[in-house]
Amino acid sequence: MSARIIDGKAVAATLRAELAARVATLPYQPGLTVILVGDDPASAVYVRSKDRAAKEAGILAQTIRMPADTAQAALLADIARLNADPAVDGILVQLPLPNHIDAQAVIAAIDPAKDVDGFHPINVGALAGGQPGLVPCTPAGVMKLLRHAGANLSGARALVLGRSAIVGRPVAALLLAADATVTIAHSRTRDLAAECRRADILIAAVGRPEMVRGDWIAEGATVIDVGINRLADGRLVGDVAYTECAARAGAITPVPGGVGPMTIACLLENTVEAAIARRG
Ligand code: GUN
Repeated sequence: MSARIIDGKAVAATLRAELAARVATLPYQPGLTVILVGDDPASAVYVRSKDRAAKEAGILAQTIRMPADTAQAALLADIARLNADPAVDGILVQLPLPNHIDAQAVIAAIDPAKDVDGFHPINVGALAGGQPGLVPCTPAGVMKLLRHAGANLSGARALVLGRSAIVGRPVAALLLAADATVTIAHSRTRDLAAECRRADILIAAVGRPEMVRGDWIAEGATVIDVGINRLADGRLVGDVAYTECAARAGAITPVPGGVGPMTIACLLENTVEAAIARRG
């Protein structure tokens, strides 16, 4: 079997166009503020992309750039000001933060209704408890790609490779909410290959280049690769050995052009949803 390619770039473009059309019907402009502390080059690229995509969708976007030696108290003061600003519907603090800042304390200071990353403990708890709330963007994007691929989630065996707070855990919660039978595998899992081979749906989110091999994939499985790894030779690869796995999978996401574009599209969707929830 040769897998269908799940075109995340196209799905994201459609979602962004739909969001722009929806924003145009609102009697107000949803507002998104992104905070970048320090000068991590990768973070700077992500933040620019988020700002540009938000503006293209008609969102009132602004980026606050703060120096790497910013005191935690100064960052918290900015968040308090944004929490109180009625024109701001979404607040996103780009991670990682410099080491002297307690990221959990910063996330917890964001108004949960404006937490468009879905990282606040209130939103994390809502997702874990199967309650409505703002859902992290990459996991939300993964679910949209599965639905776009026509994956039958109810009763399916889903294997989530990776247990991070940003991807693995929330993806597992969303798959469970969609009635999949969910296994979370991680670095301590015994016989990872055998666990993967049982899966109808495999989500790889470990950050290890091409770790998932072709003979780990069940014939016809749907494979979503969340990994983005830069190799020494400059190539960008996922957590999945693409060519090998595509030979067995039923459907698979490429890297780049799979999950990556969905993250920003879902951030825009969260911002619009947060605005509508707050302002009606
Ligand atoms: N850094 C890497 N991914 C993310 C994300 O989804 N949100 C934020 N805030 N920072 C990140």
